[in-house]
Amino acid sequence: MYDGLLHLHNLLRWVILIFLLLSIFRQMTAGNDPFGKRDKAFGLPLLIAAHIQLLIGLYQYITGSWGLKMLEGNDMSTVMKNGAMRFWVIEHPIAMLLGVIFITIAYGQRKSRHTARVQHKRALIFYILALLVILAAVPWPGREVARPIFPGM
Ligand code: HEM
Ligand code: HEM
Repeated sequence: MYDGLLHLHNLLRWVILIFLLLSIFRQMTAGNDPFGKRDKAFGLPLLIAAHIQLLIGLYQYITGSWGLKMLEGNDMSTVMKNGAMRFWVIEHPIAMLLGVIFITIAYGQRKSRHTARVQHKRALIFYILALLVILAAVPWPGREVARPIFPGM
Protein backbone atom coordinates (compact mmCIF):
# COMPACT_ATOMS: atom_id res chain seq x y z
CA MET A 1 0.00 0.00 0.00
CA TYR A 2 2.84 2.39 0.83
CA ASP A 3 4.38 1.93 -2.64
CA GLY A 4 1.05 2.43 -4.39
CA LEU A 5 0.46 5.68 -2.54
CA LEU A 6 4.02 6.83 -3.26
CA HIS A 7 3.35 6.26 -6.96
CA LEU A 8 0.14 8.25 -6.67
CA HIS A 9 2.03 11.00 -4.80
CA ASN A 10 4.57 11.08 -7.62
CA LEU A 11 1.88 11.28 -10.32
CA LEU A 12 -0.31 13.84 -8.53
CA ARG A 13 2.67 16.21 -8.70
CA TRP A 14 2.06 16.42 -12.47
CA VAL A 15 -1.70 16.81 -12.09
CA ILE A 16 -1.08 19.67 -9.65
CA LEU A 17 1.52 21.39 -11.84
CA ILE A 18 -0.61 21.13 -15.00
CA PHE A 19 -3.81 22.39 -13.34
CA LEU A 20 -1.82 25.14 -11.62
CA LEU A 21 -0.57 26.38 -14.99
CA LEU A 22 -4.10 26.17 -16.43
CA SER A 23 -5.50 28.03 -13.43
CA ILE A 24 -2.84 30.73 -13.72
CA PHE A 25 -3.66 31.18 -17.41
CA ARG A 26 -7.39 31.34 -16.62
CA GLN A 27 -6.91 33.92 -13.83
CA MET A 28 -4.70 36.04 -16.10
CA THR A 29 -7.37 36.16 -18.80
CA ALA A 30 -10.54 36.23 -16.68
CA GLY A 31 -10.99 40.02 -16.62
CA ASN A 32 -14.36 40.90 -15.15
CA ASP A 33 -16.01 37.50 -15.62
CA PRO A 34 -17.84 36.47 -12.49
CA PHE A 35 -15.96 33.70 -10.66
CA GLY A 36 -17.72 30.61 -11.99
CA LYS A 37 -17.68 27.52 -14.16
CA ARG A 38 -14.46 28.32 -15.97
CA ASP A 39 -12.57 28.93 -12.73
CA LYS A 40 -14.00 25.79 -11.22
CA ALA A 41 -13.07 23.63 -14.23
CA PHE A 42 -9.37 24.04 -13.39
CA GLY A 43 -9.53 25.18 -9.77
CA LEU A 44 -11.56 22.33 -8.29
CA PRO A 45 -9.54 19.40 -9.71
CA LEU A 46 -6.44 21.31 -8.56
CA LEU A 47 -7.84 21.80 -5.06
CA ILE A 48 -8.85 18.16 -4.71
CA ALA A 49 -5.52 16.87 -6.09
CA ALA A 50 -3.64 19.17 -3.72
CA HIS A 51 -5.65 18.03 -0.68
CA ILE A 52 -5.22 14.36 -1.55
CA GLN A 53 -1.49 15.03 -2.01
CA LEU A 54 -1.36 16.61 1.45
CA LEU A 55 -3.09 13.61 3.01
CA ILE A 56 -0.77 11.10 1.29
CA GLY A 57 2.25 13.23 2.21
CA LEU A 58 1.25 13.29 5.88
CA TYR A 59 0.81 9.52 5.83
CA GLN A 60 4.27 9.07 4.27
CA TYR A 61 5.82 11.52 6.69
CA ILE A 62 4.39 9.71 9.71
CA THR A 63 4.81 6.07 8.64
CA GLY A 64 7.69 6.13 6.10
CA SER A 65 11.47 6.31 6.30
CA TRP A 66 11.72 9.89 5.05
CA GLY A 67 9.98 11.88 7.77
CA LEU A 68 9.56 11.33 11.49
CA LYS A 69 11.84 8.25 11.42
CA MET A 70 14.76 10.52 10.51
CA LEU A 71 14.19 12.39 13.74
CA GLU A 72 14.46 9.21 15.79
CA GLY A 73 18.07 8.73 16.82
CA ASN A 74 19.20 12.00 15.22
CA ASP A 75 19.10 15.26 17.06
CA MET A 76 17.75 18.33 15.31
CA SER A 77 21.15 19.88 14.67
CA THR A 78 22.30 16.73 12.83
CA VAL A 79 19.17 16.84 10.69
CA MET A 80 19.55 20.52 9.91
CA LYS A 81 23.22 20.15 8.93
CA ASN A 82 22.51 17.31 6.50
CA GLY A 83 21.03 18.63 3.25
CA ALA A 84 19.10 15.49 2.35
CA MET A 85 17.66 15.00 5.82
CA ARG A 86 16.75 18.68 6.07
CA PHE A 87 14.98 18.44 2.74
CA TRP A 88 12.74 15.51 3.73
CA VAL A 89 12.16 16.41 7.37
CA ILE A 90 11.66 20.17 6.97
CA GLU A 91 11.78 21.71 3.50
CA HIS A 92 9.56 19.40 1.45
CA PRO A 93 6.69 19.12 3.95
CA ILE A 94 6.64 22.78 5.00
CA ALA A 95 6.96 24.23 1.50
CA MET A 96 4.33 21.83 0.12
CA LEU A 97 1.94 22.51 2.98
CA LEU A 98 2.32 26.20 2.18
CA GLY A 99 1.69 25.49 -1.50
CA VAL A 100 -1.52 23.61 -0.68
CA ILE A 101 -2.63 26.45 1.60
CA PHE A 102 -2.01 28.98 -1.23
CA ILE A 103 -4.04 26.85 -3.65
CA THR A 104 -6.87 26.67 -1.11
CA ILE A 105 -6.80 30.44 -0.53
CA ALA A 106 -6.77 31.09 -4.29
CA TYR A 107 -9.80 28.88 -4.86
CA GLY A 108 -11.51 30.43 -1.83
CA GLN A 109 -11.50 33.86 -3.50
CA ARG A 110 -14.86 33.05 -5.08
CA LYS A 111 -16.42 33.40 -1.64
CA SER A 112 -14.93 36.82 -0.92
CA ARG A 113 -17.00 40.00 -1.17
CA HIS A 114 -14.61 41.69 -3.60
CA THR A 115 -15.35 42.43 -7.24
CA ALA A 116 -14.66 39.69 -9.77
CA ARG A 117 -11.60 41.54 -11.04
CA VAL A 118 -10.07 41.64 -7.56
CA GLN A 119 -10.98 38.00 -6.90
CA HIS A 120 -9.17 36.93 -10.07
CA LYS A 121 -6.18 39.09 -9.27
CA ARG A 122 -5.82 37.64 -5.79
CA ALA A 123 -6.37 34.10 -7.04
CA LEU A 124 -3.64 34.70 -9.64
CA ILE A 125 -1.17 35.89 -7.00
CA PHE A 126 -1.80 32.90 -4.74
CA TYR A 127 -1.59 30.42 -7.63
CA ILE A 128 1.76 31.92 -8.67
CA LEU A 129 3.06 31.73 -5.09
CA ALA A 130 1.91 28.10 -4.94
CA LEU A 131 3.70 27.32 -8.21
CA LEU A 132 6.94 28.87 -6.95
CA VAL A 133 7.06 27.05 -3.61
CA ILE A 134 5.99 23.73 -5.13
CA LEU A 135 8.56 23.93 -7.96
CA ALA A 136 11.24 24.71 -5.37
CA ALA A 137 10.34 21.75 -3.15
CA VAL A 138 9.97 18.93 -5.69
CA PRO A 139 12.85 16.40 -5.56
CA TRP A 140 13.76 17.00 -9.22
CA PRO A 141 16.41 14.95 -11.05
CA GLY A 142 19.86 16.43 -10.57
CA ARG A 143 19.18 17.44 -6.99
CA GLU A 144 20.86 15.68 -4.12
CA VAL A 145 17.43 14.37 -3.13
CA ALA A 146 16.46 13.39 -6.71
CA ARG A 147 13.50 11.07 -7.20
CA PRO A 148 11.94 9.55 -10.33
CA ILE A 149 10.12 11.88 -12.73
CA PHE A 150 7.32 9.33 -13.12
CA PRO A 151 6.14 6.62 -10.72
CA GLY A 152 8.59 3.77 -10.31
CA MET A 153 10.98 4.84 -13.08
C1 HEM B 1 -5.09 16.60 5.54
C2 HEM B 1 -6.24 16.59 4.91
C3 HEM B 1 -7.05 17.80 4.53
C4 HEM B 1 -7.09 19.07 5.06
C5 HEM B 1 -6.30 19.63 6.23
C6 HEM B 1 -8.09 19.84 4.29
C7 HEM B 1 -8.43 21.17 4.53
C8 HEM B 1 -9.34 21.91 3.80
C9 HEM B 1 -9.61 23.32 3.97
C10 HEM B 1 -8.98 24.24 5.04
C11 HEM B 1 -10.54 23.69 3.05
C12 HEM B 1 -11.08 25.09 2.80
C13 HEM B 1 -12.46 25.29 3.32
C14 HEM B 1 -12.97 26.65 2.83
O1 HEM B 1 -12.21 27.59 2.67
O2 HEM B 1 -14.16 26.72 2.58
C15 HEM B 1 -10.86 22.52 2.26
C16 HEM B 1 -11.74 22.48 1.20
C17 HEM B 1 -11.94 21.38 0.38
N1 HEM B 1 -11.34 20.13 0.48
FE1 HEM B 1 -9.96 19.61 1.85
N2 HEM B 1 -8.60 19.03 3.31
C18 HEM B 1 -8.01 17.77 3.40
C19 HEM B 1 -8.23 16.67 2.62
C20 HEM B 1 -9.09 16.64 1.52
C21 HEM B 1 -9.32 15.50 0.67
C22 HEM B 1 -8.64 14.13 0.87
C23 HEM B 1 -10.21 15.89 -0.31
C24 HEM B 1 -10.82 15.14 -1.48
C25 HEM B 1 -10.69 13.89 -1.75
C26 HEM B 1 -10.56 17.28 -0.05
C27 HEM B 1 -11.45 18.03 -0.80
C28 HEM B 1 -11.81 19.34 -0.54
C29 HEM B 1 -12.74 20.10 -1.33
C30 HEM B 1 -13.50 19.59 -2.58
C31 HEM B 1 -12.84 21.38 -0.76
C32 HEM B 1 -13.63 22.58 -1.29
C33 HEM B 1 -14.94 22.79 -0.67
C34 HEM B 1 -15.50 24.03 -1.33
O3 HEM B 1 -16.01 23.93 -2.43
O4 HEM B 1 -15.39 25.09 -0.72
N3 HEM B 1 -9.86 17.71 1.06
N4 HEM B 1 -10.12 21.44 2.75
C1 HEM C 1 1.97 19.92 -3.74
C2 HEM C 1 2.31 19.05 -2.83
C3 HEM C 1 3.37 17.98 -3.00
C4 HEM C 1 4.07 17.58 -4.10
C5 HEM C 1 4.01 18.14 -5.51
C6 HEM C 1 4.94 16.50 -3.67
C7 HEM C 1 5.82 15.82 -4.50
C8 HEM C 1 6.57 14.74 -4.13
C9 HEM C 1 7.37 13.93 -5.02
C10 HEM C 1 7.50 14.17 -6.53
C11 HEM C 1 7.95 12.95 -4.29
C12 HEM C 1 8.86 11.82 -4.80
C13 HEM C 1 7.99 10.63 -5.12
C14 HEM C 1 8.79 9.41 -5.57
O1 HEM C 1 9.84 9.11 -4.98
O2 HEM C 1 8.34 8.73 -6.53
C15 HEM C 1 7.54 13.14 -2.91
C16 HEM C 1 7.92 12.33 -1.85
C17 HEM C 1 7.54 12.53 -0.54
N1 HEM C 1 6.67 13.50 -0.07
FE1 HEM C 1 5.73 14.88 -1.19
N2 HEM C 1 4.77 16.28 -2.32
C18 HEM C 1 3.81 17.16 -1.87
C19 HEM C 1 3.36 17.30 -0.58
C20 HEM C 1 3.86 16.63 0.51
C21 HEM C 1 3.52 16.89 1.89
C22 HEM C 1 2.56 17.98 2.36
C23 HEM C 1 4.22 16.00 2.65
C24 HEM C 1 4.30 15.80 4.15
C25 HEM C 1 3.54 16.36 5.04
C26 HEM C 1 5.00 15.18 1.76
C27 HEM C 1 5.84 14.17 2.15
C28 HEM C 1 6.60 13.39 1.30
C29 HEM C 1 7.44 12.29 1.74
C30 HEM C 1 7.64 11.83 3.19
C31 HEM C 1 8.02 11.75 0.59
C32 HEM C 1 9.00 10.56 0.53
C33 HEM C 1 8.23 9.29 0.71
C34 HEM C 1 9.09 8.04 0.51
O3 HEM C 1 9.98 8.02 -0.35
O4 HEM C 1 8.89 7.05 1.24
N3 HEM C 1 4.76 15.59 0.47
N4 HEM C 1 6.70 14.23 -2.84
